[in-house]
Amino acid sequence: MGRGIKRIFKKVTMKGIILAGGSGTRLRPMTKVTNKHLLPVYDRPMIYYPLETLAKCGVKEAMIVSGRGHAGHFLELLKSGEEFKMRLSYGVQEEAGGIAQALGLCEDFADNEKIMVILGDNIFQDYRQIKRAAVDFARQKRGAKIIVKEVPDPQRFGVAYLKGDKIEKIIEKPKNSKSNLAVTGCYMYDKQVWKVIKELKPSGRGELEITDVNNFYVRQNTMTFEMLKGWWTDAGTVSSLLRASNLVARELGEN
Ligand code: G1P
Repeated sequence: MGRGIKRIFKKVTMKGIILAGGSGTRLRPMTKVTNKHLLPVYDRPMIYYPLETLAKCGVKEAMIVSGRGHAGHFLELLKSGEEFKMRLSYGVQEEAGGIAQALGLCEDFADNEKIMVILGDNIFQDYRQIKRAAVDFARQKRGAKIIVKEVPDPQRFGVAYLKGDKIEKIIEKPKNSKSNLAVTGCYMYDKQVWKVIKELKPSGRGELEITDVNNFYVRQNTMTFEMLKGWWTDAGTVSSLLRASNLVARELGEN
C-alpha cells in the first residue's frame, strides 16, 4: 500500500459544519416558500451532497445552520443524522447576515476543535481529495486550508491569487480577474476563526464575508490550499442548479 493511500484512510476527527441559510434570491420563485438547500439536485435534496461529503470524509458530528422559517424542515428531513451515520445539531440564522455570520453561530458546537465547513449548495464529484486535505490539515499546527478549483467564470466566486506556491490574496467576485482559481465552499479552520469573525466589519452588501475570514489567514501566512482535480459546482443559480443535476446524473451513469 503506497503512502498516499494509507494517508487517505487515516481518521478525520474534525467537526463538520454545513451552512444552509440565506434567502436564495437567485432561485426565486423556487425559493419563495422553501429553502434553497431543500430543492432537488437530480435525485436528492441539495443538502444531501455536502452531508455525504462530510460523512465520507469521516466526520461524525455536524451542525447545520439554516434560516428562520425552514429549520423545522431540515430537522424533519435529516432527523438526528442516522442515515448519514452522523450526529447532527441544528442552528438558526435569524437574519441573512452572510456566510461568516452564520458560521459564528457554531462556536459552542466546535468547542475549540478544528472544523470543516461546507456551504450547503456546494457539490463535489469526489470526496477523496477533500479527505486527504483534511488529514493534512489535522497535522497543520495552526491556520486554515481551502480547496481551490480552476473555473471559466471566476467573477462568480471568491478568487485566489497565487505568488509562487502561496496564496497572496483572495478577492470576492472580482470583475476582471487575471486568476481563474475559484475558492470553493469547503473551508477548514482552527479555533482562531471565532475571534476573527467577531472582529469582522460588514462588507458593501452588508454581510460578514467568508473571504475576509480567509484573508486573515492569508495575511497570517497560515493559509494552505488543495487544488481540486474532479468537478465541483455550486447550485445557487438557475443555471448552476441545472448543471449540478446534469453532473450528478452523468456521475451515476444515468444521462
Ligand atoms: C460564496 C462565497 C465565495 C465562494 C462561493 C463558493 O459565494 O462568498 O467566496 O467562492 O460561495 O460557492 P455565494 O455563492 O454565496 O455568492
